[in-house]
Amino acid sequence: MYFLALPLLTGVFAKVVSAAPFTPTGGLDTNSSSPVYQPLSDFDFQSLNLALYQEFLELDLFHHGLAEFSAQEFEFNNITMDDQFIIEYMADQELGHAILLTNILGPNNASKPCNYSYPVETAQDFIQFSEMVTRVGEAGAYGFLEHLDSRAAAQLILQTVTVEARQEMIFRQLQGIFPMPFAFNPAITQSMQWTLIAPFIVSCPAENNRVEFQNFPALNITNNPNFTMLSNSSGPTVSVNETAFSTPGQSVSLSWESPGIPVGPNNSYTTNTTAGTPQFVAWISQLNTTYTPLTNVSNNTGVNTGVTQQPGGTIYGDGTSLTFNGTLFVLVTDSNITVTPANISLLNSHVVAGPAVYRAG
Ligand SMILES: *[C@@H]1O[C@H](CO)[C@@H](O)[C@H](O)[C@H]1NC(C)=O
Ligand SMILES: *[C@@H]1O[C@H](CO)[C@@H](O)[C@H](O)[C@H]1NC(C)=O
Ligand SMILES: *[C@@H]1O[C@H](CO)[C@@H](O)[C@H](O)[C@H]1NC(C)=O
Ligand SMILES: *[C@@H]1O[C@H](CO)[C@@H](O)[C@H](O)[C@H]1NC(C)=O
Ligand SMILES: *[C@@H]1O[C@H](CO)[C@@H](O)[C@H](O)[C@H]1NC(C)=O
Ligand SMILES: *[C@@H]1O[C@H](CO)[C@@H](O)[C@H](O)[C@H]1NC(C)=O
Ligand SMILES: *[C@@H]1O[C@H](CO)[C@@H](O)[C@H](O)[C@H]1NC(C)=O
Ligand SMILES: *[C@@H]1O[C@H](CO)[C@@H](O)[C@H](O)[C@H]1NC(C)=O
Ligand SMILES: *[C@@H]1O[C@H](CO)[C@@H](O)[C@H](O)[C@H]1NC(C)=O
Ligand SMILES: *[C@@H]1O[C@H](CO)[C@@H](O)[C@H](O)[C@H]1NC(C)=O
Ligand SMILES: *[C@@H]1O[C@H](CO)[C@@H](O)[C@H](O)[C@H]1NC(C)=O
Ligand SMILES: *[C@@H]1O[C@H](CO)[C@@H](O)[C@H](O)[C@H]1NC(C)=O
Repeated sequence: MYFLALPLLTGVFAKVVSAAPFTPTGGLDTNSSSPVYQPLSDFDFQSLNLALYQEFLELDLFHHGLAEFSAQEFEFNNITMDDQFIIEYMADQELGHAILLTNILGPNNASKPCNYSYPVETAQDFIQFSEMVTRVGEAGAYGFLEHLDSRAAAQLILQTVTVEARQEMIFRQLQGIFPMPFAFNPAITQSMQWTLIAPFIVSCPAENNRVEFQNFPALNITNNPNFTMLSNSSGPTVSVNETAFSTPGQSVSLSWESPGIPVGPNNSYTTNTTAGTPQFVAWISQLNTTYTPLTNVSNNTGVNTGVTQQPGGTIYGDGTSLTFNGTLFVLVTDSNITVTPANISLLNSHVVAGPAVYRAG
């Protein structure tokens, strides 16, 4: 044993002494004099193109909300002029993010802004919808970031998406709800992100690059807690102590489309699934993808419906964060395969419909 181990130890030691002082061995691209801030694969290009669609949507959305609803309407909801200014500031951040992605993709390859339509009728709807959209943008980027071939581009996206996560938190504070009721932000796949944002994109310039990810059939949560049910707060606040909006075991009613429906810019995309019989509901929250059985599945009226129960529990046992709190993602699946954040894309081929965004807290 001793004689076998000796050469190995010597090898490691030799590496350590040859490195520059204070420079541990290993790591990726730790000493590059010319990092490549460009897509290095089709995976990179498509992921960054999707991220750019997301940034343009947010840029337009924040401006739209400020233009559509009067200062008086915001103030009626106790969203002051200062609060309105941070929304304008967040739009400016989106402009920066869009320029960054345009630079990475290159002027001839970067997609341009589109026309959009949002399901918002009041200033409160706008704040709640913006929270959902930033949650999707953040989770979508976390899903692909660590898989990019261009580690240099990933560095810049990391520095972008951390601001996006702050925006999500601020939109919660503007609703007067607890800012971050979780210990980890979740990650979703590009197809899940694209499924969630495509319905709000009406038309895009003809020269835009198509998004090559899958559009899953749409999923609705029929009894999702909505703004008016969320809290009895009296407007924006840094934090508020309250209970979750939902409880483990509570019944959740779902309805979803069959595949083959046109969706997205110019209705030029078609929803698709490669999954079989719907059997489970996947709950993506924090670091976990947890399944609950899907029951009462029906397609009587041409609309697919089913029921499940919200799971419960804490992420690492007693005294740790509730696994299902905050804004999270649910999908109807044909299987309950085990996935973790770094291989969540294995779930794509099992998605019957979704995700939908669930407001647990
Ligand atoms: C970084 O790379 C240069 C050139 O390849 C080399 O001379 C230098 O020793 C490297 N530095 C470290 C800390 O590895
Ligand atoms: C466009 O993308 C392709 C493929 O990534 C790359 O070869 C080309 O240089 C890019 N063009 C510009 C103008 O950035
Ligand atoms: C957006 O809509 C306007 C008005 O219908 C239209 O003129 C314009 O071409 C559209 N732009 C894009 C990018 O689809
Ligand atoms: C929100 O939920 C309440 C209570 O269930 C309901 O009365 C109201 O119509 C819902 N609002 C929207 C916009 O769905
Ligand atoms: C605005 O704040 C006041 C005072 O705290 C409160 O009474 C009122 O209900 C709030 N308005 C709304 C729409 O939340
Ligand atoms: C806030 O909620 C926690 C957990 O429910 C509770 O232990 C604590 O006493 C509450 N604090 C206040 C100030 O209400
Ligand atoms: C759950 O979410 C609610 C509402 O956001 C929050 O007030 C509460 O502190 C959270 N509870 C835990 C244990 O994280
Ligand atoms: C989902 O909800 C939207 C908005 O309420 C509605 O237009 C759509 O028809 C619903 N789809 C399904 C499959 O329930
Ligand atoms: C889904 O995509 C596959 C592969 O492109 C295709 O063969 C199938 O017809 C599509 N299904 C629908 C419903 O569009
Ligand atoms: C649901 O029913 C409609 C109308 O009968 C049918 O077109 C559709 O394919 C069915 N969906 C599924 C998933 O079986
Ligand atoms: C949640 O995910 C973490 C990290 O993968 C894991 O250690 C933990 O056991 C999971 N918790 C539950 C309740 O599944
Ligand atoms: C998957 O479902 C089966 C049968 O319903 C169950 O025995 C198994 O524990 C589930 N696995 C996961 C990871 O949820």
